[in-house]
Amino acid sequence: MNSLTDEIIRASEIIKQSSRTVAFTGAGISAESGIPPFRGENGLWNKYNPVFLDINYFNQYPERSWPLIKEIFYDFFGQAKPNVAHYALAEMEQKGLLHAVITQNIDNLHQIAGNKQVYEFHGNSRNLVCQKCSTYYEAGKTDFSIMPPLCSKCGSVLKPDFVFFGEPIPLAANKYSFREAEDAEVFIIIGTTGEIMPASLIPYEAKKNGNKILEINISPSNYTNSTTDIFLQGKATVIMQQLLSALMT
Ligand code: APR
Ligand code: ZN
Repeated sequence: MNSLTDEIIRASEIIKQSSRTVAFTGAGISAESGIPPFRGENGLWNKYNPVFLDINYFNQYPERSWPLIKEIFYDFFGQAKPNVAHYALAEMEQKGLLHAVITQNIDNLHQIAGNKQVYEFHGNSRNLVCQKCSTYYEAGKTDFSIMPPLCSKCGSVLKPDFVFFGEPIPLAANKYSFREAEDAEVFIIIGTTGEIMPASLIPYEAKKNGNKILEINISPSNYTNSTTDIFLQGKATVIMQQLLSALMT
């Protein structure tokens, strides 16, 4: 077996030769920004019952869902900053080594780090949208002391603009994410278990077209033994920093 350093160099050569590299990220890339992932040790779903993010439950009991949404996604996530792995992807894009990022994350950290071409497969937490009249509000300017937050135009409940369980994927993000996977020559999967459909299908779309699949994760995922060509095991920050240095030499 090759050493991790050899594998990182091999991955960097593949990226250098690629005319179109796309990254696909999950909660693992934001773990070192202090955002807990959903599954595994310290996973959010060990602590909270995910039903509060089920669209039917939310529509019926917004006053029960909202305090948890506020605590997890606004009081806490709201303070998070991009880490070295996010910045490395931004630098790769600036240097023409990365075409786009497809993310399942709703935390905005890729954009804050500087990535321009970001497809948010599960929407985002930046905005709230009125469930009735579809008016958008910036979460950062919303008064969360009133629970649930209400639309100032029609008085209906506001919902974060991210995808709840039971909701469809935003049309444009869905279309372009699969298209990017199809068109990519090299596809880098970072920090996702690959448990949630249809997002989990995106890497298979990339593989179908014969793309090289690189993967970064602290532990093997659903993709590692089925889809991944080069598995770089380790923390996203550590591996991305090493990969970026190898790309610059
Ligand atoms: N570096 C790299 N990988 C990491 C790190 C780290 N520091 N920490 C955790 N990981 C890996 C874990 O090993 C795991 O494979 O990140 C992955 C996180 O997996 P999940 O918590 O399942 O997150 P994700 O795959 O993004 O979840 C998909 O599920 O509930 C939904 O909508 C939510 O978008 C989310 C979707
Ligand atoms: Zn409204």
